Amino acid sequence: MNPLLKLESVCKAFGGLKVTNNVNISVMPGEISAIIGPNGAGKTTLFNQITGNLLPDTGKVLFKGKDLVGQTPQKIVFSGIGRAFQISSLFPDESVLDNIKVACLSRMNKTKKFWRPMLKFKQATEQAYAILESLGLESQAQRFAFELAHGDQKLLDIGIALALKPELLLLDEPTAGMSPEERKVTQNLIKKLWKEFDLTLIFIEHDMDMVFDIAQIVRVLQQGTLLAEGSPEEIQNNKEVITAYLGEEL
Ligand SMILES: Nc1ncnc2c1ncn2[C@@H]1O[C@H](COP(=O)(O)OP(=O)(O)O)[C@@H](O)[C@H]1O
Ligand SMILES: [Mg+2]
Repeated sequence: MNPLLKLESVCKAFGGLKVTNNVNISVMPGEISAIIGPNGAGKTTLFNQITGNLLPDTGKVLFKGKDLVGQTPQKIVFSGIGRAFQISSLFPDESVLDNIKVACLSRMNKTKKFWRPMLKFKQATEQAYAILESLGLESQAQRFAFELAHGDQKLLDIGIALALKPELLLLDEPTAGMSPEERKVTQNLIKKLWKEFDLTLIFIEHDMDMVFDIAQIVRVLQQGTLLAEGSPEEIQNNKEVITAYLGEEL
């Protein structure tokens, strides 16, 4: 089987600081994996180079064998890489339903021809409701996005990403700012979405319970370098990782 995503010798520096230092990663289709590492390790910067928000200095970002480097974020989204941001990117003054519906419509406009606009709106509404149900947000459909609790806003952000039907979904700290109870709920939900939407999923996370519970592969970044990669057991027992990161985190 070929990897769905392959990073080849990806390098990025800001000034003299190497934030991505010769990173090589292969992500297999259907895999759920975590990226962990201290603040400032370059995790978000790595995501930004996969989604086209930042250009690597050198190296390749191969998705289904094709190099994405130089493509616009919009083009990359429509080629199948979705993303939920560390900071929500919602339309706060629109309804929860409309936030998702807009994303459904933009994908439909991109991929299908509709002769009857009403049919298109009907389909978009149905798809948006289905996504809200998967997220457990259906009862909030008519509320404004800004009225939602912080945790639900983050879920809505994931819903918008799902509306674009990604094959690969990137989640940057999905449980940041949540209470322990909310985190547990979100953890279970992410696992459910991974299966239900047939996703390949990569999440950045500081909650080690979640990382070791649901990731099949864990990758550790430190100062832009891939320090280790392996199963949860391998990573938990890796001396270098314990010294560099896990020691203080656990
Ligand atoms: N646009 C930028 N310009 C300059 N430095 C940046 C920029 N974005 C991030 N950095 C720096 O790159 C390093 C990695 O940041 P980041 O990828 O956000 O880390 P992480 O997500 O692992 O916490 C940090 O030292 C950060 O200050
Ligand atoms: Mg970050």
